[in-house]
This record gives sequence, structure tokens and C-alpha cells, in this order.
Amino acid sequence: MSSTVRTAALLFLGRAVVRTQALLGDPAARLFGTTPTRDPYPTYESVRSSGALVKSRMGLYLTASHELCDAVLRDPAYGVVPAGDLSPIDSSGYVDGRRLVNPVEESFLVRNPPDHTRLRRLVAPWFTPRGLRAQAATVERVVAEYLDEVGDRPTFDLVGDFAARVPVRVIAELLGVPGADQAAFARWGKALVNALDGVRDLRELRALHEGLREFEAFLDDLVAHRRARPGDDIVSALVAHDDLTREDLVATTELLLVAGFETTVNLIGNAALAVLAHPEVRARLLDDPACAEAVVEETLRLDPPVQYTVRMPFEATHLAGARVPRRTPVVLLLAGANRDPAVFTDPHRFDPDRPDVRAHLAFSSGIHYCLGAGLARMEAAAALRGLFGRYPNLRAAGRIRRRPSRLIRGAAHFPVTTGAPQRRPMAPATT
Ligand code: HEM
Repeated sequence: MSSTVRTAALLFLGRAVVRTQALLGDPAARLFGTTPTRDPYPTYESVRSSGALVKSRMGLYLTASHELCDAVLRDPAYGVVPAGDLSPIDSSGYVDGRRLVNPVEESFLVRNPPDHTRLRRLVAPWFTPRGLRAQAATVERVVAEYLDEVGDRPTFDLVGDFAARVPVRVIAELLGVPGADQAAFARWGKALVNALDGVRDLRELRALHEGLREFEAFLDDLVAHRRARPGDDIVSALVAHDDLTREDLVATTELLLVAGFETTVNLIGNAALAVLAHPEVRARLLDDPACAEAVVEETLRLDPPVQYTVRMPFEATHLAGARVPRRTPVVLLLAGANRDPAVFTDPHRFDPDRPDVRAHLAFSSGIHYCLGAGLARMEAAAALRGLFGRYPNLRAAGRIRRRPSRLIRGAAHFPVTTGAPQRRPMAPATT
């Protein structure tokens, strides 16, 4: 059988098995086999009401318990699951005789210590409080610039015209991508992010390979350029490490683009949705721009962009009274854990004032805790302040189309009307 036919057959069979199990009531199949735009929160509730740890006939476990998710994420007996282990096909490929690096499969996000520790350490300095302070001005400038482009238009797409542009530009500047290449950089980022959910058909697989091929060629050029003329960006710092392989350099750079892109786009979108749905929150935001931080934090808890992650034990172990065989995936429903009533009072209510607002798991926990959490918080708060400062009467203007993804939750298309524009931008919050 040719590899193309085999891949198509595996994809088809995989979907058919999941659909059948979903009809039989299997919790994992219901989650992964239903329309990706459907509200997932009732499924998380039903998982939690079935027990702290729920077994699926699909050979994995699920939990929506905050305590259990946090414990597994911090437990060195569990490791990350290489993406290939969960997918029926290998989405990396050979093009022109050279193997493409799929960031999802090779970066430190999906590597265990000691490789994880070594690679994460190389880029960590950009994300410390000191590193972030250096980026605050860039973030404010980028937000203002894109809002200037929206200007006095009566309607716009909050995602396409604004939220989707800010994070990719910030990452591009961090990595040292020249301005002229930033549009292509954004296009590749989108293609790579779409693959995070797993490729669904051959067309998507081809698009992924094409995107990876172009992106790697671009990165090779950027690396050569930075070797010759180093700057104070991340790529320049990475190329200075002689012991870093080309694959690790490509995977690390791609990870920063992919991890920080759609996640932050959807945080901005989900936070704006929350403000539109809660007039009292809008009133407070207009009155006190500094409360954007709390609004962002409560959005991360109630409607996080990353809905789940997966770990597996290196050896057979016991978890919540069940024996989990070695290398069995345990799906940690972060978005479900964020509504666990054992931790959060009245968990389905949007309340930026809750005292434990930062106890959520939206950025995961343990050694893989999101490296860009501080940057994402800063970008989303600046975006909210900018948006509502300029357009205090912002309203939804039509149907919001959700991203067709189970892993990343947010709006793909978010039409809004600006109302009467107010030319006075809000002052940045000082916290
Ligand atoms: C709202 C925005 C974001 C959310 C919700 C988010 C969420 C997450 C989550 C849940 C993980 C851990 C996954 C796991 O434990 O398996 C993670 C890891 C990571 N994130 Fe983020 N992220 C966001 C923004 C960013 C940004 C802006 C960057 C950087 C530019 C970034 C870079 C990373 C990196 C490098 C990792 C891997 C950390 C490791 O494996 O040690 N993220 N993120």
C-alpha cells in the first residue's frame, strides 16, 4: 500500500472508531469525536461527575479534577507525550531528501528532562520579569499601531483585524524577523498552529508540509543573516550556541511562534467576549484600566485558550485509586479543572474579583508551565485597555464564528461595531 493511501485509510478508520465510541457514551470519544465548535464545558462536567479519574475505552484516562491535574503535571513520574504517539500518522515528512521538523513533535514542549531543561534554559531569559519589562513598550506600540489601522471604521473583525495581528508581530520582533518578512511569518504561523489539533486529511497534511518547508527555508536564511550580523534577538542568541543542532534551533524558534500565537489571539478574543457580555465589567474597565489584568486572569480561568494537555507515566503507577499502565495517556482537562467547585466558588460565574483568580491551570503547571505566561498576560491586558479605551461603545455585530478546534478555544471571526470612536487612548496601567 502506498504511504498516501495508508495515511488516508488510517485517518478514515481513526475517525470511524472515535464516532462509534462517542455514540456508545465513551467520555474521550465524546470529547474528541464531536463537532469541534461545540461547547465542551458540559462534557468536562460529566467527566468530573463520573469521578476524579475516568477510564476511556480508547486506551486513555481523563480528569477534570484541579487537584489531580496539578498533581500529575508536577509529578516527575509522568512525562509529556510525543505528538506522534497520539496520532495515527507521522506528520513530519521528507521533502527534497531532508526531514522536516514538526515543531509540535520535536520542541522542548514535548521533550522530557534532561533535553527539556537544557533547551528551555536557552530562551528563558527573554521571559523573566526583567525580559518582559524590556518588551512592554513594544507591546503598547504594536497594540496602538493596529488600532490606528482600524481607525474610524464603523465595523471590523476583532480577531482578523486586531487580535490576530498583535501576538505574531510581538514574537516576530522578539525573534528578530525583519519587518518585510513578518506577513509571511504570520502566514506560516497560522499553518503550523492549525496542525496542533492533528491533521484531519491529506490536504491538511500537504499544507502542513508546504508551510514547514517554506518556514524552514526562511529560518535557515534568518540564521545565516544573524550569524553574520547578530542583534539582541532570540535567534541571534541561539545561533551563538555552537552545540545546538539545526533541528533544535528550528524547533525552538517554531515553538515560540506556534505557542505564543493563536493562544494569545484567543485570549484577547475571549476576554473581549467576556467584557461585551458583562456591562459592569466594561464600566469598571473604562473607569479603571488597571483592572484589565484581573479581567484577563478570570478569562484564563473561565474560558482558557488551551483546553487540555496530556501526560503519561514512564512506569505503571497508581492514580486516584486506579492502576495506570506505563505510557498510557492521561488527558488533563485544564479548562475543566478551572471550573472545579472544590477550588473555585460559583465556578461558572465570571468574577474578576475572586480572591483565588490566579489559581487556574490555563498555563499548565510543573516544569512545562507556559514560558510565555507573563508576555501573554501583558499583551492581552494592553489589547483590552487599547480596544475599550478607543471604542468604549464596542458591540458585537453579527455571528461570532468559533475556531474548529478542540484544543484551542476561541473565535475565528468576531465582527464588532465601534460605535462613536473616542480619540482619547487610555493611559497604560501602572501596576
Ligand atoms: C494566552 C496565551 C497562552 C496560553 C493559554 C498558553 C498556554 C500554555 C500551556 C497550557 C502550556 C503547557 C502545555 C503542557 O503543559 O503540556 C504552554 C507551554 C508553553 N508556552 Fe504558552 N501559552 C500562551 C502564550 C504563550 C506565549 C505568548 C509564548 C511565547 C512567546 C508561549 C510559549 C510557551 C512555551 C515555550 C511553552 C513550552 C514550555 C515548556 O514545555 O517548558 N506561550 N503554554
